[in-house]
Amino acid sequence: MIPIPTDGKRKRVFIRTYGCQMNVYDSDRMADVLRSLGYALSESPEQADLVVLNTCHIREKASEKVYSELGRLRDVKAGRRRNGGDLTIAVAGCVAQAEGEEIARRQPAVDIVVGPQAYHRLPQLLAEAERRSAFRRAGKRLPGAGVLDTEFPAESKFDHLPAPGGVRAGAAYLSIQEGCDKFCTFCVVPYTRGAEYSRPAEAILQEARTLVAAGAVELTLLGQNVNAWHGEAVDGSTWSLAWLIRALAEIDGLARIRYTTSHPRDMDDDLIAVHGEVPQLMPYLHLPVQSGSDRILEAMNRGHGRDLFRRIADRLRGRRPDLALSSDFIVGFPGESDADFDQTMRLVEEVGFAAAFSFKYSRRPGTPGAALADQVPEAVKAARLAALQTLLAHQQRAFNRATLGSSVPVLFAEAGRKPGQMLGKSPWLQSVYVEGPGSLLGRIAEVELLEAHAVSVAGRLTSSFEAAA
Ligand code: SAH
Ligand code: SF4
Ligand code: F3S
Repeated sequence: MIPIPTDGKRKRVFIRTYGCQMNVYDSDRMADVLRSLGYALSESPEQADLVVLNTCHIREKASEKVYSELGRLRDVKAGRRRNGGDLTIAVAGCVAQAEGEEIARRQPAVDIVVGPQAYHRLPQLLAEAERRSAFRRAGKRLPGAGVLDTEFPAESKFDHLPAPGGVRAGAAYLSIQEGCDKFCTFCVVPYTRGAEYSRPAEAILQEARTLVAAGAVELTLLGQNVNAWHGEAVDGSTWSLAWLIRALAEIDGLARIRYTTSHPRDMDDDLIAVHGEVPQLMPYLHLPVQSGSDRILEAMNRGHGRDLFRRIADRLRGRRPDLALSSDFIVGFPGESDADFDQTMRLVEEVGFAAAFSFKYSRRPGTPGAALADQVPEAVKAARLAALQTLLAHQQRAFNRATLGSSVPVLFAEAGRKPGQMLGKSPWLQSVYVEGPGSLLGRIAEVELLEAHAVSVAGRLTSSFEAAA
């Protein structure tokens, strides 16, 4: 291991994260690895010796953003080199996995390309990049365009990454499952994250205890298909997610449990039952449906129809009547007709969502959907997205309004935009603003919800916080 310099000249790393919560978790783990190599975190690329872009490949826009950012970093690097300095540029995440060497070809200033399954090998990759850079300074060149690691190694990165280094404001993510075997025809994830892999139950429980001891009161279990998680328990039996949640609920001090992202196909009876059973499990579930048309769901290879989704929603609410649902939608999948889109709008009306993410279909190279005839024109996609978002925004506001007057525990995660204001999350994952002291950070306090806005709610701390403070 490289010793930590003591002359005040610690190397600095800036990590920029795009994409989903799994990338947020991975960025934290990369920061932990780099900290053990002596790096301190930097607030901006301009002050950093190493910049890591943790990238997302899910839609074309997300992917292209990376290249414009790399263009800016190339200029910073060139400026440094003119003054005898340097900047190491690493591309991590799903674009790294999907495009590999192509990245270094398109942007030669990139030193390291590392896929999501190889982060534990960052120390070796950095040492190799340093060796290349020493050659360059000596006026020589090594063959190849930088350092590349996009293998899916046999060993799991989870077994080789350091334990989580810290908890921000009471809430922590915990990756329990990675990859995907479902191959929806629009999606790159099975290619960028590889085959489905579940971490063993004991490793997860251990990490959960570490996080709670470090101050986490809320854990969000993460996976591209988190409810497909299954793992060997200490007694040798195989656990499903329902059993893992029951075991996590036994940890003292853990007040809130969430999990994301789920697939409707893996919402089994036991998992639905846990929602009525474990009070720490928050009454909120993100369950992507993508479309309300059976024909389109089939073409997307989702493996279920609109009816199954409706039944799951009903059964969840049967167990936990205050459960709020959110979802993901794609409009303009190839072949989507007005009638198909209408089915999506009707499903939204029938089920009712507290929040949602909706996207225009983006044609991703290498996925079966990209090759389909009947691609939907951009203008049609835009019109459908606008209509769907209007309906979803209306539902979100109505949901927020319906919660007014209730007193709920809010976990405060950050300061609000105005001085004296704090921002937290309700059990239903609403953003809640209150007037309150900075000491609320990382704590749960009772708040009376008073005023509904489009994507947030304003509230008032009730006396129980003063009592607890
Ligand atoms: N595993 C999750 C989703 C992961 S990707 C699931 O099965 O639902 C997150 C969201 O991005 C998806 O739910 C989908 O709505 C959206 N998405 C994925 N690929 C897309 C594409 N090619 N175009 C537009 N949106 C896409
Ligand atoms: Fe993508 Fe489908 Fe897998 Fe979700 S289930 S990650 S949408 S392929
Ligand atoms: Fe994006 Fe990869 Fe997540 S493609 S959404 S960062 S799994």
